[in-house]
Amino acid sequence: MDKIIVLDFGSQYAHLICRRIRECKVYSELVPYNISADELKQMQPTGLIFSGGPASVYEQNSPMCDKKIFELNLPILGICYGHQLLVHSFGGKVKKANREYGSADLTIDDSSDLFSSFNSKVRCWMSHGDAAEKLPDGFKVIAHTNNSFAAAIANKQKKVYGIQFHPEVAHTEKGIELLKNFSTKISGAKQEWDMKNFVENAVQEVRIQVGNENILCATSGGIDSTAAALILHKAVGDRLRCVFVNHGLLREGEEDEVVKMFKDNFDIKMIFIDAQETFLKKLKGVTDPERKRMIIGEEFARVFEDVAKTHGPFQWLAQGTLYPDVIESGVSKGPAARIKSHHNVAGLPEWLNLKVIEPLRNLYKDEAREVARLLGMPEYLIKRHPFPGPGLAVRIVGEVTKEKVEICRKASKIVEDELVKANLYDKVWQAFAMLGDDKAVGVLGDERVYGNIVTIRIIESVDAMTADWARIPYDLLEKMSNRITNEIEGVTWVTYAVSSKPPATIEPQ
Ligand code: XMP
Repeated sequence: MDKIIVLDFGSQYAHLICRRIRECKVYSELVPYNISADELKQMQPTGLIFSGGPASVYEQNSPMCDKKIFELNLPILGICYGHQLLVHSFGGKVKKANREYGSADLTIDDSSDLFSSFNSKVRCWMSHGDAAEKLPDGFKVIAHTNNSFAAAIANKQKKVYGIQFHPEVAHTEKGIELLKNFSTKISGAKQEWDMKNFVENAVQEVRIQVGNENILCATSGGIDSTAAALILHKAVGDRLRCVFVNHGLLREGEEDEVVKMFKDNFDIKMIFIDAQETFLKKLKGVTDPERKRMIIGEEFARVFEDVAKTHGPFQWLAQGTLYPDVIESGVSKGPAARIKSHHNVAGLPEWLNLKVIEPLRNLYKDEAREVARLLGMPEYLIKRHPFPGPGLAVRIVGEVTKEKVEICRKASKIVEDELVKANLYDKVWQAFAMLGDDKAVGVLGDERVYGNIVTIRIIESVDAMTADWARIPYDLLEKMSNRITNEIEGVTWVTYAVSSKPPATIEPQ
């Protein structure tokens, strides 16, 4: 399949470039900036994009790509740092300039290819401290702003383009159009990335990878693991078994719902494991968020090992890992920092003698949702909010105790129910309650109570990579708050989390 490969030079948002290109129906993947030319060649890219990044090309130890990449004669688009790197690498000069941050007017000087279908002026979004001072031979300016004479440059013969602004962010007018022009017009990539093709290819790939071996699939009933299971089932039929683990950190009524969904809709064999006591015991006294995730990940692995022994043999363990999980766990090999260890990506312990298969590893959430829909997952479950593998443990700050889990679960149910009643559930990404060990004084009846503080978190997002808190009506918050304090013993205060991502993350742990 035709693809645009994005080299990640350290921007936390390099993945957004891939995201946007996929919106143009062209497959795109992120790789670390220091990938070798040989490795890159093997991926058979149709075109390359060099992402932005915080470094300056003229500094020592700034990230550089393998020089042989330029000998592959592939179309290249450099963005921000990537643009400066192209100027530098082709013999031009980059210098420290006036910082330019925010919106700027871009005047198009040449609308024949990269800016094809653009008006002569568009708004673009800038964020840089360096700029091109002298262009390399063979390059000419194709757009400028008041502050950047070379806001966009091109060497049309070599098909190498550089832009100082960020087309991947929503503030750049027609940014997606620019990426589409580069991908389809300049690189010539075919727009063949769609989920129907994806499913067909994924099924073929699984068959090749697995041969006639058996797969155990960790299934939570969520979109990702269910979509993964459905692909695997299409590929290997009854050589797939699914396992659902109740770790005691699930949403209210979740296990029953999952049993029902599989029974009513799919002909896939399921094994149900009740490990509630074990997980809670292992988490006793643990307060560090990353330790909690590690413990839960390990405990899952232990359960899988047991199941493999009793129901096996299995050679493969399948998971519904998605692309953002891979990126956020810092294992995309790029220089972006690790934020959280999603237990399904952080790697399984070596003692677990199973090979890992992750058919959705390259998909974004909305793409996984489309796959689930194509494979017959019922609509009401597709619309169910995502729920993290470690469950309520990541919504409980401090030690995970039975009491805190109960409060968190009941309060979350109230938040979800009230949103459904207000017809807002489908409009938000996630809605839940969280709590820690902070307490506050309240009066219940005529009595002083030193009770728990529950925080409501309701989030809007398109792919969980960035998110904003939902501006829901005060009346609705009031209803939720009243119900939480009235119906859950020991809760005296309810607060609302008003942090977006970044700087916060969606889950508190
Ligand atoms: P954060 O909290 O990192 O969450 O902003 C981004 C999205 O990922 C979900 N999440 C997880 N999903 N395993 C999962 O399967 C995990 O360990 C995990 N941690 C967070 C979170 O609910 C949100 O949708």
